[in-house]
Amino acid sequence: MVTMTPSSRRRFLAKLGGAGAMLATGSWLDAIGYAQGVRGAARALIQQPRVRADVDRRVLGAFLEHLGRAVYTGVYQPGSPLADSSGFRSDVVREVKEVGVPIVRYPGGNFVSGYNWLDGVGPKQQRPTVLERAWNSIETNQFGTNEFIDWCRTVGTEPLLGMNFGTGSAEMAVAYVEYCNYDRGTKWSDLRRSHGFEKPHNVRYWCLGNEMDGPWQIGQMQAREYGRKARDAARQMRVIDGNVQLIACGSSGTNMPQYLIWDREVLEECYDQVDGISLHAYYGNTPALTRNSTARYLAMNLDMDRQIREIAAVCDYVQGLRRSSKRLWLSFDEWNVWYRARSGDAVDGRRQVAPKLLEEVYNLEDALLVGGFVNTLLRNADRVRIGCIAQLVNVIAPLVTNDTGVLRQSTWFPYTWALRYARGRVLDLRVDSETYPITAAGLQADFARNDQVPFVDVVATLDVQAGQTCLLMLNRDLDGERELVLEWRDITPTRVLACETLTGPDLKAFNTFEEPRRVVPQRLEPPAAGTRMTFKLPARSYTVAQLATTT
Ligand code: AHR
Repeated sequence: MVTMTPSSRRRFLAKLGGAGAMLATGSWLDAIGYAQGVRGAARALIQQPRVRADVDRRVLGAFLEHLGRAVYTGVYQPGSPLADSSGFRSDVVREVKEVGVPIVRYPGGNFVSGYNWLDGVGPKQQRPTVLERAWNSIETNQFGTNEFIDWCRTVGTEPLLGMNFGTGSAEMAVAYVEYCNYDRGTKWSDLRRSHGFEKPHNVRYWCLGNEMDGPWQIGQMQAREYGRKARDAARQMRVIDGNVQLIACGSSGTNMPQYLIWDREVLEECYDQVDGISLHAYYGNTPALTRNSTARYLAMNLDMDRQIREIAAVCDYVQGLRRSSKRLWLSFDEWNVWYRARSGDAVDGRRQVAPKLLEEVYNLEDALLVGGFVNTLLRNADRVRIGCIAQLVNVIAPLVTNDTGVLRQSTWFPYTWALRYARGRVLDLRVDSETYPITAAGLQADFARNDQVPFVDVVATLDVQAGQTCLLMLNRDLDGERELVLEWRDITPTRVLACETLTGPDLKAFNTFEEPRRVVPQRLEPPAAGTRMTFKLPARSYTVAQLATTT
C-alpha cells in the first residue's frame, strides 16, 4: 500500500466512504498485494527493498506434447521447404529462439502415460509405428527423446522430461534417467552412445507421470498407490543422478473431487523424495465458469493465484507433518485457456498421423487473460519455479503452422513480452485499485466466488545490473481507460525504452493466416520518466513498459 502521512490517510479513508466496491477486510487478495483503492486511478508504490523473488525464467516455460500437430508439422516436418537439415521447422525455431523460451516440457501430457520411450530412440527406420491411445492417433516415433534434445539445443531451451507412470514401470522410468544422464559403461548409457549421443544429456528436471488422478489418464491411480510408486522410482533415480529435480504429480485441476486431498496423500508418501509438485489448470469463458461474462473471465488469473496458495499450503502442511527442513516448489506445468476445441473431433485423432486436434483459436480477451496469468506466475515466483504454457505450437498454442509459415495468435504477445522484458527480481508491490464485484451464483463450484476484483493488475521486475525495470499491466475495465499512478522509492526511472499495449474494440477478434494483424500490439504513449508516473491504460488492455532505471 502507498505509504501515507496520518492526514493523507484520513483523506484517503474519507474518500473510501464514497467508493463503490470494496475489498472485504481480510480478503485473500490482500495477500497478493492488493488493497481497496478509491474510485478512479489505481496506485502502486515501487520500492526496491521490497522483493518477492528472483525471476527464474523457467516460470515462463512451455509444453510440447505428441498430440495432434504439435510435434509433427509443428516443430518437425522433414521434407518441408521450411525444414532445416534435422527436419526441424526453421520458422518455429526462429520464433522460439528469438524470445528465449527457457524450458519445454515433453513428451506429454496424457500421451506420456502410454509412451514407451524406447520406441522413439535408435535408427529411425527401425522405430515402430504404434497406435497411440490417449488421443487415438498414429505415432510414427520419428521424433523422440534424442531429436527433442537436439531441438532444445537448436532453440536454446532446457528440456523438462515426463515419465510414463501409467503403463510404465518404475524400472523403465529409472532406465530413462540412466539413458539420458549416465555417462557410460552401463546398459542404458551405452545404448544412448550407440545411438550417436556420446555425452549424457544431463536432463535436470523430470515429471514423475502426468495427471495420475484423472479418470481419462492411462493407468489412473489412487493417491497413495501413486505416491509410493513415485517414492520408489525417485529413490532409484537419485542413485543414478544426484542432481535431478523431481516433480510429483499434483491434482490435475481444482475441479477434481479429490483436489488437495490427492496432493496431501501423495506428498505424505513421497515428500522426502521429490522436489516439487505439479499444478494444471485450463480456463474458459463458458456458462459454467464465467456465465459468459468477460468481466469474470478476466479475473480468472486470480483463481490461478488462489490455486497456487492452496497447493503451497498443502505442501507446507506435509512439510510440518514430516518435520522436514525442505520446502517444495511448484511446477505449474500446464496452464492456458482451453474451452472451444475440447470435445468430439477436436480430441479424437481417428487413427491419423498428426491429426488436427485441440486447435484452439485465441482472441483478444483470451490474450488479456494470458497476460493476467503471466502476472500471477511472476508474482508467485517465490513459490512457483516452473510454469509451462500449454502448449507451444498448433495444440492450444500461441503459434500455429501451415505449409507456408507460422502464425502468431493473440496470446503470443503477452507471453513473449514477459519473456523479453521480465528480468532480475520481481518486486513486491502494494497496489490500491478500485474493484468490481463478481458473483458465485450458477458457477461451477471451484469458480463460484462472491468477491471484489481490482480493475488493475500489475507486476514489476527490476534488473539492477542492466538498469531496467519491466511493468506488465492488465486493465480489466471493459469500458474505460484506467490510470495507474506509480510512485517510485529508491529506484528512479530515467527513460522509457518501450511501451506497447494489446487492446481493441472487438474482444472476440483473432488472427488468421489471411489476416494475421487483427490482434497485434500497438505503441502506447508513455508518461515521462520520473519518480511519479501516470500510465493511461486503455479499456480492456494488457500493456508492457520497459524503463531505464537507476538505483
Ligand atoms: O494439454 C492437453 C492435455 O491436457 C494434456 O495432455 C493433459 O495433461 C491435460 O489434461
